[in-house]
Amino acid sequence: MIPENIRKEFPIFDNRPEMTYLDSAATALTPAPVIEAVSTYYRELSANVGRGLYPTAEETTARFESVRERISRFLNTSSDEIVFTRNSTEGLNLLAATLADRIEEGDNIVITALEHHSNFLPWKRLTKRCGAELRIVPFEKDGSIHPDTARSFVDSRTKIFAFSAISNVFGTPNDVSTIVRTAKALNPDILTVIDAAQAIGHMQVDIQEWNCDFLAFSGHKCFGPTGVGILFGKHDILSSLPPYQVGGGMVLDSTADEPTYMDVPHRFEAGTPDIASVFGLDAALDFIDSIGVDAIHAYESELATQAVSKLKKAFGDSIHILGFNDRRESGIVSFTLEGIHPHDIAQILGERDICIRAGEHCATPLHHVLSLPATARVSFSVYNTEEDIDRLIEGLKEVRSLFEN
Ligand code: ALA
Repeated sequence: MIPENIRKEFPIFDNRPEMTYLDSAATALTPAPVIEAVSTYYRELSANVGRGLYPTAEETTARFESVRERISRFLNTSSDEIVFTRNSTEGLNLLAATLADRIEEGDNIVITALEHHSNFLPWKRLTKRCGAELRIVPFEKDGSIHPDTARSFVDSRTKIFAFSAISNVFGTPNDVSTIVRTAKALNPDILTVIDAAQAIGHMQVDIQEWNCDFLAFSGHKCFGPTGVGILFGKHDILSSLPPYQVGGGMVLDSTADEPTYMDVPHRFEAGTPDIASVFGLDAALDFIDSIGVDAIHAYESELATQAVSKLKKAFGDSIHILGFNDRRESGIVSFTLEGIHPHDIAQILGERDICIRAGEHCATPLHHVLSLPATARVSFSVYNTEEDIDRLIEGLKEVRSLFEN
């Protein structure tokens, strides 16, 4: 169950009580305990990690490492497999850069046509550089990847299969464990990479169950602060990769002709991390656990399902909703309204304090496949209510009437 007074946990509504926020897939609003955790770090500790020998520095390091432990429990893996990054994009770029040595001419990397640019461009650039082939698995009408379709794209020269757990445009969850199992049955050496940006905090994610080799997500999409993300990597594979960036906090012997580096995960954390945001992410996971991820998933999916039904009822044939499923399994719904550019929809709604996203949502290849220049997208979270859907529908009716006159 979502607590009835949950909006009170989000201070932004004190400042913007009229706001209808329907863009949580871009970034979720931040609950008070997360803001408090960030501010507590600066007010009470404000020391660096892994360096100082005075009490606040030691406490900061201990708490920082305890967040790593916390995240590993949340994902059902171990803490030496958790790397702090800035966001999903950085985690995926780290992989593409450090896996480069393993890719040769004639190899291939498989992705899907659903991918966000963060899980498309790193692999596109890598295949171009290495003379390898980028293979793109098409999606089904519901916006998911069918494991049998994926099967025909994997062969003995496939080095990496990278795909999202939930498309940021369709919002349809993929059957990650079956896709991973199918790919590994065809080629046991394949490395599987999951972009879980839209999944963490929105559905159950158990890394042991998915059995993926790598997974990346951003803190700010699951109630955490901006500036922190997580890259999970299976220990043996992560340990075999070279550093991504070099600098402070990750080296053992810097004066040797061939410097030696710390073990994972610290080897991948050169420089001072965003410590305050890591503490904030800890509070975000507490917030998620206090509600329960299953309850969040059910609530967001229910709101999206209701939105689909009300949009269809209000706009009939003039609305095109991506994905044919009436029953939704995430909080994301994308659509187009006949004769009105999605940017106009978002701008006019914005003037009425209704925040939605419009454009290609950093998923240009997906929009090319659909031959759509742009879509409008609403995405729900725990602070949304049925009233927000009604305000959206009323707002869209106003948009339409402006274009009819
Ligand atoms: N990836 C974010 C979105 O889908 C920014 O809006």
